[in-house]
Amino acid sequence: RFSVIQTAPPDAILGLTEAFNADPNPGKMNLSVGVYKDENGQTPILKSVKAAEQKILDSEATKGYLSIDGLPEYRADVRNLVFGETLAADRVAVLQTPGGTGALRVAADFMQTQLPKARIWMPNPTWANHPAIFSAAGLPSETYRYLGDDRTSLDLDGMLGALDDNAKPGDAILLHGCCHNPTGIDPTPEDWKQIAAVIAKKNLLPLIDFAYQGFGDGIEQDAVGLRTVLEHVDEAIVCTSFSKNFGLYSERVGAVSLVAADAPQCAAALSQLKRVVRTNYSNPPRHGGAIVATILADEQLTELWKEELETMRLRITKLREQFVETMKSTGSGHDFSFLLRQKGMFSYSGLSPMQVDELKSKHGIYIVGSGRINVAGMSETKMNSFCEAVASVLS
Ligand code: LMR
Repeated sequence: RFSVIQTAPPDAILGLTEAFNADPNPGKMNLSVGVYKDENGQTPILKSVKAAEQKILDSEATKGYLSIDGLPEYRADVRNLVFGETLAADRVAVLQTPGGTGALRVAADFMQTQLPKARIWMPNPTWANHPAIFSAAGLPSETYRYLGDDRTSLDLDGMLGALDDNAKPGDAILLHGCCHNPTGIDPTPEDWKQIAAVIAKKNLLPLIDFAYQGFGDGIEQDAVGLRTVLEHVDEAIVCTSFSKNFGLYSERVGAVSLVAADAPQCAAALSQLKRVVRTNYSNPPRHGGAIVATILADEQLTELWKEELETMRLRITKLREQFVETMKSTGSGHDFSFLLRQKGMFSYSGLSPMQVDELKSKHGIYIVGSGRINVAGMSETKMNSFCEAVASVLS
C-alpha cells in the first residue's frame, strides 16, 4: 500500500522556506515567500493587532463554534473593505474562510459543482498555487496571455485578444485585484475598463483574488479594478486574504464574497457555498476574524492599522528604489527601473532558473524559480551584498 507512494516535489514557494531554514549560511536571505519583513528581517505583529488581541482576551466569553459562514461583524467588514458602498448588501454573500487559499478552494469547489461547464482562465503567469487549487477541485483551467515580450509590462491587447477569441460564455476568469503575484504588473484604471468590457461582452464570471489590498497604492485605490469590473457585470466572486495587510499570516484569515444579480440568487448561492464549507472544514476559526473585526470596530485601532499598513507599503516602495539605484552602481549594465512601475510585494526579476539556482547555492539567496523576488524581504543594510550577488549571476 504505502510502499508504492511516490514522494511529491517540494512546494514551489513554501518548499523554499523549508530549504532556507535548513541552510547553515549565516548571510542567507529569504526573498521567496510573500511575507512582509522589517529592516531586522522580522515579520512583526502589528500594534493594532496586539491591542485588539488584548481586548479579545479580556472580553471573549466563548470558544463555541462560529456559524458556517463566520463572524457577522467580520463579514460586514469584508464587504465594506472590498466593495465600499457600491453594492446592495443583499446581493453580496460573504463567508469567512481560513486564509485566501481557503477562499479560493471554496470558490473552486463551488464552481466545480454549481457551474459544471465552466473553465477558469488564469493569467500566465499566476501564483503557483492557483492551478494546483483548481486542479485539486477538478475545475478545468486554461491560461490567457498577461506578460508582454519584454516580461516587464502587461500585454493588454494580447490578454483581451486571447479572451475574446477563446473564452466561452459561462467560463470564469481569474484576475488579481491588485499587486499581481508573481509579476507586480497591474492593469491601469483605464486598462481595467477594457478588461471589464471584454468580461461583460463574453459573459465571463470574474473570480478576483484580492490578497494584497493596501499594498499597491492604498486601501481604496487598490479596489478600483475590482469595482470597475463590477460596474460592468452583476455576478462575481472575490477571494480576500488578510494575511498581508493585517500581518495575520498564521491566523488564516480570509473570505470568499459572492456577488449575485439579486437577493434570492444570492441566498441560493450562499446555501451552496455553505455546503462546500461544511464538507471541507465545517466552520472557520474565530480568532483571526475577531482580530480584524475588533480593529475595524474601533476608530483609533482602525487609524493605527491604516498607518501601519501605509508604513509597510512605503517601505516596499523605498526598497524598490534602493534596489534599482544599487543595481545601477554595480555596473552590471542591467536596467531594473521597471521595478518602480510594479506594485506590491513582488517583482518578476527576469532571472533565469539557472541564475536563481546560482543565487541559492553560491550566495544563500532564495527567490522563487520563476525569478519572482519578494521585494518586502529585502533590507537596506543587506542591499549592497544582495545587488552584488544578483550582478554576479547576471554576468
Ligand atoms: C506567496 O505567493 O508567496 C504567498 O501568497 C504565500 C503562499 O502561500 O504562497
